[in-house]
Amino acid sequence: MPFNPEYRNESEVESKLIVQYLLPQLGYSPDSWYQEVAFGSIRLDFLAFAAQAVPFVLDANSPLSVVMEAKHPDQNLNNHVRRLKRYLTNLNVQYGLLTNGKEIRIFERIKDDIRLVFKCSGKEVNARIEDIKALIGRDNLKAIGTQRPLEVQQPQPNVVNTQKSSNLSSETKRQHSVKTIAVYHNKGGVGKTTIVVNLAAALRKKGKKVLVIDLDSQANTTFATGLIKFDDEEFDNIKDSNVLHVLQSEDSSPIQEVARESQFNNPEIDIIPSHITLMRYEQELNQLADIKIMLSEKLQAVEKEYDVVIFDTPPALGLFSEIALTTADYLIIPSDLKPFANQGLVNVKDFIKRIDRFRKIISKPQIKILGVLPCKISTNSKFVQSTLPKRIEIVSKRYGFNVMGTVIYEREDLAKSTEKTLFIGDLELPDPRSVLDFKPDSTSAHEFELLAIEVSQKTGME
Ligand SMILES: Nc1ncnc2c1ncn2[C@@H]1O[C@H](COP(=O)(O)OP(=O)(O)OP(=O)(O)O)[C@@H](O)[C@H]1O
Ligand SMILES: [Mg+2]
Repeated sequence: MPFNPEYRNESEVESKLIVQYLLPQLGYSPDSWYQEVAFGSIRLDFLAFAAQAVPFVLDANSPLSVVMEAKHPDQNLNNHVRRLKRYLTNLNVQYGLLTNGKEIRIFERIKDDIRLVFKCSGKEVNARIEDIKALIGRDNLKAIGTQRPLEVQQPQPNVVNTQKSSNLSSETKRQHSVKTIAVYHNKGGVGKTTIVVNLAAALRKKGKKVLVIDLDSQANTTFATGLIKFDDEEFDNIKDSNVLHVLQSEDSSPIQEVARESQFNNPEIDIIPSHITLMRYEQELNQLADIKIMLSEKLQAVEKEYDVVIFDTPPALGLFSEIALTTADYLIIPSDLKPFANQGLVNVKDFIKRIDRFRKIISKPQIKILGVLPCKISTNSKFVQSTLPKRIEIVSKRYGFNVMGTVIYEREDLAKSTEKTLFIGDLELPDPRSVLDFKPDSTSAHEFELLAIEVSQKTGME
C-alpha cells in the first residue's frame, strides 16, 4: 500500500494515519471504533474495540480496547504520556497508542501504571505494521479475550463520531425522531429509578434533550431529580400539577405546562413529576377510553423539544406500567439477576405480550426490547468472574431475553448521590444529584456513560 507519512496538522494525523491507515490495517472495521469519545472530563480521540466481553465494565480488565491519541506533528509526545496514563488507568483500557505522525508509541497498562511496549518512527510504520498488529491488532486482542467470561452481546459505543456522522446523508440528519424508552421490571427495588435518572443525566451530558416521566406513584424519580424541596406537605407544589393531570384530561395539562426543569443534573432535564395521589386514581383513569394512548398523543405536541423521553414505572403489572410500555418504543429491564427478579421475568414476558397485542390493535409496532440490564451487581471479584457470567447466561437461555452489555454495579457513590442534602438556615432539604455530577470521575459515573453509549447506539440516536 502506498504510504506517505507527511502530516501538516493534528487533523491529518487523525484522518490519514489513524482512520485511513492504522485502524483498517489493524482489523478495526468502522463499526468497532469511535472518534471523540467522552467519559466525564476525559475526551478520547479514538477508542477501538476488539470485542466486548461481558461484564462490560471499566473497572475490570475486560474492555478489549485501544485508545489512540493523535497530536500535532510539532508536539513532543513526552508531554502527553501522563495524560494517556490517566486515560488508561481511569478507564481501565489495556493499550494506548500515542502519535504525532512522526513517531508512534504504544503503551500497555499494568495496574495503575503504563509502560512503553513499542516505538517506531512514522516512516517505519509500514514496515513495522506486523509488530503493531501483534500488540493491538483486533484479532490479537480478541484472542486474549477468549480467556475471559463468555461473550454475550456487543454494546457498541458510539458517542460523538464526527467522522462517521459526516457520512450520513443530510436527509437522515434532518429527520428528528424522539426515542421513547420505558424502564420496567415488576420486581421492586432492582434499580429502575436509579437507571432512569442517571441514564437521563448521561444522555443529557451527551447533548440530548431529555424528558423524564415519572409514572410511579411512589414518586421516587420525582424525589431523585430534586423536585421535592419541601419538608412539610403544606408546601407541596407537586400535588396540583403532575402526571395524573396529564393523563386525566385530553384538553388540559399539556406536557409543556406540567414539565418542570430539574437542576439535579447539569445541564438541566425536564421532568413530569408523579405524586402519591396517583395511586387513588388508577381505577378512575382505567375507565377512560383512550387512557393508554393519551400520553402518546400529548407527547406528539412536544416531539421537536426532546430527543429522548424516559419513563419510570412502578414495580407492578397495572395501568401505569401499561401506559409506559404502550407509549414507549424501547424497553430496558433492570434486574439484579437474582432468583426472584429472574422469576419475575416470566411476568414481564407475558406483560409485554399483552402490551404488544394492544399495540397491534392501535397499529403500533411491537416494543423493542433493549435487554435486561444487570443492576446493583456485587463488585466482589469472585462473583464478577464466576457467578455473574452464569447469571447472565440464565437470563438469555432460560428466559429468552437479551442481556445488555453494560453492567451497573452496586456502588456507594451512586446510592449517596440521591441522599445528598442541603441546609438552608437550620432546614435540611434534599438536594439529590445525578452520579455524573455528584462524582464525575467515579466508576459509577463512567458506567452510566457507557450505558448512554449503548442505548444511543441501539436506538439509533446519533
Ligand atoms: N447500582 C446501585 N448501587 C448502589 N445502590 C443502588 C444501586 N441501584 C439502586 N440502588 C439503591 O437501591 C434502592 C432501590 O433502587 P431504585 O429505587 O432505583 O429501585 P426501583 O427498582 O426503582 O425500586 P421500586 O421498584 O421501588 O421503584 C435505592 O435506595 C437505590 O439508591
Ligand atoms: Mg422506582
